[in-house]
Amino acid sequence: MASRTRFLGLLGLSCLLSSNAFYLPGAAPRNYHIGDKVELFVNALTPMLSGSDNAKLKSLINYDYYNPHFHFCKPPEEPVKQPESLGSILFGDRIFNSPYEINMLQNTSCQSLCTVEVPPPAAHFINSRIREDYALNWLIDGLPAAEMKVDVRTGELFYDMGFNLGNDDGPRREKPAIHNHYEIVLRYHVSSPGNYRVVGVLVWPTSLGGAQDAPLGSCEADPAAPMILSEDAPTTLRYTYRVTWNESDTPWATRWDNYLHIFDPRIHWFSLVNSLVIVVFLCVMVSMILYRSVSRDISRYNAIDLSEDVQEDWGWKLVHGEVFRTPNNPMVLSIMVGNGAQLCTMAGITLIFALLGFLSPSNRGSLATVMMICWTFFGIVGGYVSSRVYASMGGQDRKKNAFLTATLLPTIVFAVVFLLNIFLLSAGSSGAVPFGTMLLIVLLWFGISAPLSSVGAYFGTKHGGIEHPVRVNPIPRQIPPTPKYLRPWAAALLSGILPFGAAFVELYFVLSSLFASRAYYAFGFLALTAIVVALTTATVTILFSYFVLCAEEYRWHWRAFLTGGGSAFWLLAYGLFYWASRLSLDFSGVVLYLGYLLLLVLLDFLVTGTIGFLASYWAIRKLYSAIRID
Ligand SMILES: *[C@@H]1O[C@H](CO)[C@@H](O)[C@H](O)[C@H]1NC(C)=O
Ligand SMILES: *[C@@H]1O[C@H](CO)[C@@H](O)[C@H](O)[C@H]1NC(C)=O
Repeated sequence: MASRTRFLGLLGLSCLLSSNAFYLPGAAPRNYHIGDKVELFVNALTPMLSGSDNAKLKSLINYDYYNPHFHFCKPPEEPVKQPESLGSILFGDRIFNSPYEINMLQNTSCQSLCTVEVPPPAAHFINSRIREDYALNWLIDGLPAAEMKVDVRTGELFYDMGFNLGNDDGPRREKPAIHNHYEIVLRYHVSSPGNYRVVGVLVWPTSLGGAQDAPLGSCEADPAAPMILSEDAPTTLRYTYRVTWNESDTPWATRWDNYLHIFDPRIHWFSLVNSLVIVVFLCVMVSMILYRSVSRDISRYNAIDLSEDVQEDWGWKLVHGEVFRTPNNPMVLSIMVGNGAQLCTMAGITLIFALLGFLSPSNRGSLATVMMICWTFFGIVGGYVSSRVYASMGGQDRKKNAFLTATLLPTIVFAVVFLLNIFLLSAGSSGAVPFGTMLLIVLLWFGISAPLSSVGAYFGTKHGGIEHPVRVNPIPRQIPPTPKYLRPWAAALLSGILPFGAAFVELYFVLSSLFASRAYYAFGFLALTAIVVALTTATVTILFSYFVLCAEEYRWHWRAFLTGGGSAFWLLAYGLFYWASRLSLDFSGVVLYLGYLLLLVLLDFLVTGTIGFLASYWAIRKLYSAIRID
């Protein structure tokens, strides 16, 4: 671990990027005394992406631990649901208490937890989940139970969160074996004499076959006699566990480091630095080209005016009477820009929070919670930007604009999530958002975000549209045919390559954390990537807008948005590639995946499109303020 930190430190960004920086004193440390009860909580079961390189994720659905099919041992009273944050619920956490008896520093011998009878239908259900690589997720003192694994590339030990429900050795056996014995190793740290803290939770699950009512021995697993659930007759199954406490020199403050393992950091770094260099180089080049040709144009235009030559104008100066002509559908465009601006501020502030370390995985669900809250409160930004852009484009129906800005996108997102939710429910998953949470979100959106949005719209209207440096001619010019590469879709695809190229390394990790429930913590990388993407999007869109105007095509508004949002199409393509290469889903999984992917693409399109549009707007205003018009 230390060597990794030093390696990152070499690059001079360690304070921002090493995992220690994301780490944050989330909750206060908890001291236990000898014999104190240590609670074990159980979370929903999630499909796991097993370590090997070509492993595929086989499902996207979470199941409650106490789903009646699983027949896990319950506490003597009904299981009690633990309070969770909004984000944690949205991301599928469902945490309950459990009957495990664990006391600080007390090793136990092999204990029986309970014996259950599994009928054939449940056995079939469980066997299918084992084949799909489902993992159990336990929490002890806020730490996830993990399996200790070795990174095959670096040989480093790390804790892989979650442990398998069972194992499926494929052709050797007809049915998979279920794990019914848990070897729980708890690592503790002595913070001061008599005070102990939990700093690591490891579980080795094994399968104990044979007679399930025999007296408990040492619970050593016999690889030749695993526990197999029969799908023809009820199977008796005993769950056992053993607790071992093991001292560790890891202090509480760095206890998450073992979990936050970066697979092959070097490749990660090389590709990031690589794309960073390419992108910075391109940005500088593009800005220089733009700057030089524009200043040449300007001096030429102004010189011709001075010599009072009869020579005609050419290039972008020709369309000075058209550039600020109202585009088609200013209403829709301004709503998209408003919502995009709201999303941009949300993403920016969330990243800042993440960089400051408030959103480490030790605060479960904090990322999603902060995002929701930011989105809600930045309704004011959305309303303001939308109404000003609308006014600048000469829109008249301001009330309709304010109303649609506040409601259109939330309604679309909500409708999609609602449909997917129904789908999840029908698949029996616990990942479906509970009704109460849905209600809370509706309340946040329509009770706080929408009113704030109209407050923003009020101020936006008050400040009015942006002054334009040149007037619009009463009669529109004819537009000559544009070259092929400047046609809207071609331009969007071409310009999207650069921002996408800068982001796709990180995108892989983001997709894996979204869909394969891997914890995401590389916020330093993510923030850098986001900045690079924003910069490239802005530069490339300005460049394309300039070309478009030089080709005497003055309808740049929509084109700028589309060009800026071009990377979203690449994101869609990459999402489909990810599906093909990393996922092997059944029908309901495919519907869920595509639903979430399309939502992601839509949001990305709005964000990058807005960046492109606003950057072009700014640049075009600058451009036309620089020339003299008679
Ligand atoms: C628990 O068992 C482990 C392994 O046998 C041993 O190293 C450790 O000292 C024991 N701890 C206590 C508190 O008995
Ligand atoms: C306790 O930790 C040490 C290393 O810190 C390890 O070698 C040993 O196997 C662990 N004991 C158990 C019972 O896991």
